[in-house]
Amino acid sequence: MENLPPPKDNDESSLPGLPEMDEQHRYLLKLFDRIEQSFTVTRQAALAALLPEIEGYLHFHFASEEHLMRHYRFPGFPPHQSDHEAAAARFVRFLDDFEANRLNPGALRIFLRGWLLDHGATADREYAAWIAACRENFFKSKS
Ligand SMILES: [Fe+2]
Repeated sequence: MENLPPPKDNDESSLPGLPEMDEQHRYLLKLFDRIEQSFTVTRQAALAALLPEIEGYLHFHFASEEHLMRHYRFPGFPPHQSDHEAAAARFVRFLDDFEANRLNPGALRIFLRGWLLDHGATADREYAAWIAACRENFFKSKS
């Protein structure tokens, strides 16, 4: 497990498709790739620095998406926000495990990457398409 390269092939194809949000997804994936791929923590200090960066940026990212969805009155906002809340709650349980010295970093990495790739390719694509259409209509109506 330790020597396997991260499966990057899916990364670009699972982006939401809205340039400013795609950049946030790329940064999150870059952070997730720094989580060690082992069953137990071997680099305590590195994780102690990395986890707050992931937590902070993840919340910033969710807030950014939710702000955009509200601004453009995306009809699928409530279930999308629930998805974010469920992922954030699961992440908090991993943080609790880290605090209690029982974190499985490999499992955390698999969860975060898997969740973001799946969510990005499905739920995020829906709001991204909605926003792209809203923006197109905006410019049409102003021309
Ligand atoms: Fe999202």
